[in-house]
Amino acid sequence: MDDRDKLSYTYTTVNEFQRCANIVPSGVFHEMTRPTNLRGYNIPKGTEIFTNLRAILSDKEHWKYPDTFNPENFLDGNGQFFKSESFLPFSLGPRVCLGETLAKMELFLFITSLLQRIRFSWPPGAKWPAMNGIVRLVRSPEPFNIICHSRGSTE
Ligand code: HEM
Repeated sequence: MDDRDKLSYTYTTVNEFQRCANIVPSGVFHEMTRPTNLRGYNIPKGTEIFTNLRAILSDKEHWKYPDTFNPENFLDGNGQFFKSESFLPFSLGPRVCLGETLAKMELFLFITSLLQRIRFSWPPGAKWPAMNGIVRLVRSPEPFNIICHSRGSTE
């Protein structure tokens, strides 16, 4: 983890994986415990609320490349990591994901460890998988095939 600050481009790429993966697109449902008014809308007690995290993670006003995978979404003008205020895959507020710090650490360690050990390639002639994913509470990828070569060997 000590290396993360020195690996700006790697870290931006891990963040861009997470932005595009968008694994909890509607957040977790909550229910209003009392009536409230938000920007002129009256929301009665008992209303079910969900946050459209998908919209935030692909907001055209806040991302340079909202609809394509591009680590530059997280780079400033000097090529350094820049955390956009619209990067909210863990939601925000008092009920923000309790596992955020752990999940970020795991994603960085798992992805860098895999890339250090394995060379990934596309099977010749294989079709691109549909990128919509399978959306339930959590969004998961459609099945796809990929070739994994151990680095430094022909296996
Ligand atoms: C990439 C991985 C993860 C993502 C994108 C994610 C995302 C989220 C989101 C969007 C919420 C709902 C926040 C809200 O209600 O507004 C949530 C809640 C929660 N997450 Fe995660 N999560 C991840 C990993 C984890 C891990 C590894 C743990 C535990 C070790 C965890 C524990 C929790 C808990 C306990 C809540 C409920 C918090 C509450 O309602 O007060 N999450 N997560």
